Amino acid sequence: MCGIVGYIGTKPCLSMIINGLKRLEYRGYDSSGVALFNENNEILIRKAKGKIVELEKLLDKGLEKHVVGIGHTRWATHGVPSTLNAHPHNSSNGKFVLVHNGIIENYAAIREFLLGKGFVFRTDTDTEVLVSLIENNYEGNLEKAVRKSLKEIRGTYGIAVMAENEPEKIVVARRGSPIIVGVGEDGNFVASDPSAIIAHTKNVIYLGEDEIAILTKDSINILNIDFERITPDVLELDMTLEAIEKGGFDHFMKKEIFEQTQTIKDAMRGRLMIDEGNVRLGGFQDHLDKFRNAKRIIFVACGTSWHAALLGEYMLEKYTRIPVEVEYASEFRYREPVIQQDDVVIAISQSGETADTLAAIREAKTKGATVFGICNVVGSTIARETDAGVYVHAGPEIGVASTKAFTSQVTVLCLMTIMIARMKSMSSIQGSDLAKALSRIPDKVGRILETTENEIIKIAEHYKDASNFLYLGRGYNFPVALEGALKLKEISYIHAEGYPAAEMKHGPIALIDKNMPVVVVATRDGMYEKIISNIEEVKARDGKVIAIATEGDETIKGKADHVIYIPDTLRFLTPLLSIIPLQLLSYHIAVMRGCNVDQPRNLAKSVTVE
Ligand code: G6P
Repeated sequence: MCGIVGYIGTKPCLSMIINGLKRLEYRGYDSSGVALFNENNEILIRKAKGKIVELEKLLDKGLEKHVVGIGHTRWATHGVPSTLNAHPHNSSNGKFVLVHNGIIENYAAIREFLLGKGFVFRTDTDTEVLVSLIENNYEGNLEKAVRKSLKEIRGTYGIAVMAENEPEKIVVARRGSPIIVGVGEDGNFVASDPSAIIAHTKNVIYLGEDEIAILTKDSINILNIDFERITPDVLELDMTLEAIEKGGFDHFMKKEIFEQTQTIKDAMRGRLMIDEGNVRLGGFQDHLDKFRNAKRIIFVACGTSWHAALLGEYMLEKYTRIPVEVEYASEFRYREPVIQQDDVVIAISQSGETADTLAAIREAKTKGATVFGICNVVGSTIARETDAGVYVHAGPEIGVASTKAFTSQVTVLCLMTIMIARMKSMSSIQGSDLAKALSRIPDKVGRILETTENEIIKIAEHYKDASNFLYLGRGYNFPVALEGALKLKEISYIHAEGYPAAEMKHGPIALIDKNMPVVVVATRDGMYEKIISNIEEVKARDGKVIAIATEGDETIKGKADHVIYIPDTLRFLTPLLSIIPLQLLSYHIAVMRGCNVDQPRNLAKSVTVE
């Protein structure tokens, strides 16, 4: 959500912090700020509302030489987006400064308490309360004051703190919000996401829950909340700077859409055994009995990952006959779900940091379930807190609207389906057919990307000013309709609804008139005849039909206003193809409407608050 970057060392750090913040801007971007120590050990703060370019306008030359600092990009939770509410925040006496990701739940009570002691508050934020609490608890040692304060608060945090009396250190801590420490050659870093510091170091320490790190220019000490020393694992990041740049595309989203030929391959690499008609998912290997004996599989996820989970339900029930439930993590965590022995809970999350998904897995673990994860971000909290799991290997996804992570998640679900089905009744011949078809998907995605974009641009031109869109699909293409509609509304701000095509008659049909574009995912499968009838129903009410159809289907040309063709494949794999034109359509419409495709308003890439 928000982003943190900091440095303490011997090199001028302002540009490192600003560039790091720019890499984090996709996480939250209503305001930003930096705090630096000057040569007299005074803390200087600059903050601005809006994009980081606004902050840059305030950065005078004199600031560049300083060698200790922290920065932040903010996505508002408590207090409106404004310069005042932007981080870093300083304490009542101005001697402590802090950046914070997360939410302090009991901030109101602490604020009252501190007001009673004469503390002054200038902002509406929960963060300002925390930094003043640290001031209140300070007795000459910053980490001790931080520790005491963290014991007094409820909520989630990733923080970096500096104190004017101790300019030789930055203290960082986390609970529920990711923090990594970067081990550099001329100093040390803190960040909420490795992409912020990858340009300077690949050696990082993922701070654990309730851990505190004390960074100086040449040392890193990690302590648990009881102040016992922890020996950290220093990991080498397997991520290149180039991988997180735009690579010649205008937007990260477009780059990520076009990467899907490769990322789907990467999700299968080393896992698909075509000759044996089987799959090997390393992360699940020690738990195969859990899957074999599962009485029920429960997916918990949010947003696009929830749509992937829905596809998981369709394919797993068909091929494995294990009952599957798909839960919004935010509902699951609070509604006292029934979890029984032999239930398997699987969290799907691109970021691995979504607060509700994390809380849902904790709830499931409390109830005794074995919890697995399907995540993209390596080392993320969900990846670490689940009993076991697999990565989808999509690489860093920067565009807020998820594209390649979705197809990678679906690919892993296809693999999982084959793996479990083979442990049950599926023959090696059928397994091999499925595996072969899956292995051909990346080339087919490549063909769609090469052949459909011009037509999609024309369609986008035609409908870019529409106020509403309807997306319809049946069977495996119903979750695709939901995901297509979500993509459009996220980045173009056009209202869009995804519906099971037949359900249209129970409401949305009332909206259809000549101004209503209806995207119908009408590939040739068992539901084809039925979806053609749905197209007729739309046409009878003057709606405009944009059909996603299977190559070679000439009939549909006479029915729909526009047709985008995709290659044929097995039914359960269709979503990996049919979603591609819908991603491109939303992308081009958003660009034509002048929207900020990679950083849509109000959205964050990683929602680390509930
Ligand atoms: C946010 C993002 C979505 C994402 C959802 C779930 O809303 O903008 O793109 O699908 O969170 O995130 P996760 O990282 O758990 O998949």
